[in-house]
Amino acid sequence: MRWGIAATGGIAQTVGRVIAGEPGMRVSAVASRSKERAAVLGRELGAELAFGSYAELCAADEVDAVFVATPHAQHLEVAEAAIACGKAVLCEKPLTGRLDEAERMVALAREAGVFLMEAMWMRFNPLIQRVARDERFGEILGVRAEFGFHQPYDPAHRLWDPALGGGALLDLGVYPFALAQLLLGTPLDMHVTGSLGPSGVDAEASVLLAYPGDARATLETSLLKPLSNTATVIGSGMTAEIDASFWAPRRIVLTRPGAEPEELLLEPGEDGYRGEVREVARAVAEGRTESTIMPLDESLAVMRQLEEARRRLGAR
Ligand SMILES: NC(=O)c1ccc[n+]([C@@H]2O[C@H](COP(=O)([O-])OP(=O)(O)OC[C@H]3O[C@@H](n4cnc5c(N)ncnc54)[C@H](OP(=O)(O)O)[C@@H]3O)[C@@H](O)[C@H]2O)c1
Repeated sequence: MRWGIAATGGIAQTVGRVIAGEPGMRVSAVASRSKERAAVLGRELGAELAFGSYAELCAADEVDAVFVATPHAQHLEVAEAAIACGKAVLCEKPLTGRLDEAERMVALAREAGVFLMEAMWMRFNPLIQRVARDERFGEILGVRAEFGFHQPYDPAHRLWDPALGGGALLDLGVYPFALAQLLLGTPLDMHVTGSLGPSGVDAEASVLLAYPGDARATLETSLLKPLSNTATVIGSGMTAEIDASFWAPRRIVLTRPGAEPEELLLEPGEDGYRGEVREVARAVAEGRTESTIMPLDESLAVMRQLEEARRRLGAR
């Protein structure tokens, strides 16, 4: 699989290096708003092509799959161009900054019969996958998850700028919501409290989600203070304490009444980034247009909840 990397920022570099090191795939092109920046990252990743626009990358014959690594509010434009050119798309989390844009992206990919997946790498972490399929949990009764750090206020920073899809919920909160969605499905009800930053984006949110039966999820996200960045999964038969960072855990402890605690450790060389890029290559080789591990309807369900939480807080 020949990949094109759209953007040269933090995650473009991280995932670009993972792709460059994977057998059976390579980075053939990098695009940036600046051709020079594309050339610098392209040289590091062994790419033969560097483009000064994302549109050129999407149109290039030498590219089979596009990794969209722009800020969330700029995802749709790139993904739309890639889908129109028939390229498989791995799009950074969250799919977009707004629900209507995410729905449009999914509809375009489905109409075109082109592969699309949100790069929710947490779902590809082998320890998270073990928790999701372990029947010893019984009925899942509760999920608690929090992701926060102190991001000093700067109106030009991606996390504080509404034009770049800023706010805690979309950037950090997407992980606690995605964990609850994976383990409990779609909630029936939501309670939200939080605060806005000076630019009008959500700075903090504490969310309670209610599910059929008595199941609850308590989720927290913040750009104002560091949180534990851990998660707990409580089942009728077993509890999991997921170490920080819960979206990329290296250790999980399982406890059951009357049994010794069980420690799950990540094997060297395993991680969610490798898993997600391998999934794209596997799906495309098998002629699938969606991932079974990270289905598009699950990404849309999370987008719907994030948008509702942001609406209730009055976030821009
Ligand atoms: N999966 C993960 O672990 C993870 C981690 C961090 C971020 N992310 C996601 O990845 C995306 C990018 O985050 P990041 O941390 O890589 O951000 P970043 O370091 O700020 O990089 C974003 C890149 O997007 C490009 N871009 C295009 N239009 C832009 C605009 N109007 N303003 C600013 N940059 C623009 C820029 O590349 P050029 O200048 O080269 O065009 C920039 O370098 C976000 O959606 C975020 O949620 C995922």
